[in-house]
Amino acid sequence: MNAKQAAAHKAVQYIKDGMIVGLGTGSTAYWAIQYLGEKVKQGMRITAIATSGETERLALECGIKVSEMDAVDHIDIDIDGADEIDRRLNLIKGGGGALLREKIVAAGSKTFIVIADGSKMVEMLGQFPLPVEIIPFGWQHTARHLALLGCQTTLRQKEAKPFITDNGNYILDCQFGPIPDPAVLQQQINNTPGVVENGLFVKMATRIVIGYDDGTAGEFS
Ligand code: 5RP
Repeated sequence: MNAKQAAAHKAVQYIKDGMIVGLGTGSTAYWAIQYLGEKVKQGMRITAIATSGETERLALECGIKVSEMDAVDHIDIDIDGADEIDRRLNLIKGGGGALLREKIVAAGSKTFIVIADGSKMVEMLGQFPLPVEIIPFGWQHTARHLALLGCQTTLRQKEAKPFITDNGNYILDCQFGPIPDPAVLQQQINNTPGVVENGLFVKMATRIVIGYDDGTAGEFS
């Protein structure tokens, strides 16, 4: 079991029969979906809410029942990865481009468990370029406004074209450097016309589960 598998395996132990479960996106969430699929095959009944088209496809392949977000009035536990994590439970997310749905699902969850390998832990957020989802209309204007907040912006590309999110939007990867006050920065970004949502998840996480290469995992909350 590698570090990502160890974190995912530990987090999945919190899922109980009958729960509504948020499923994150990315290579660590992938393992949580696989382990949940095993539990479902052994008879556990859960309903999942997927944070991306890719996650929905994976969950269905694993035999997990997937529902629409608006078909449920709450989510019991959301399990998702992160690109950076600090000791105060703040995150940068969106490396996989799913940050908008990931934030909606996390906000709708009673418990939000973040799973990662140790490389994601940082003293201060900001080395990883902050993903910001923006609407395509006038995106260069939006990028210039965001640059005034003190970052270098790069339009995310896929196969030499702009990367398009599941919501039909673009992603700007914003290199801020150290972010001493994520709560203030997330408000400044979201006040910028053209921005849909940003990848700062400020004190949304309930519990962080970190996996290690020896197959063990630790947690803090
Ligand atoms: C996707 C995300 C992912 O959770 C984040 O990028 C971490 O991915 P991985 O587990 O593959 O390192 O936010 O939008």
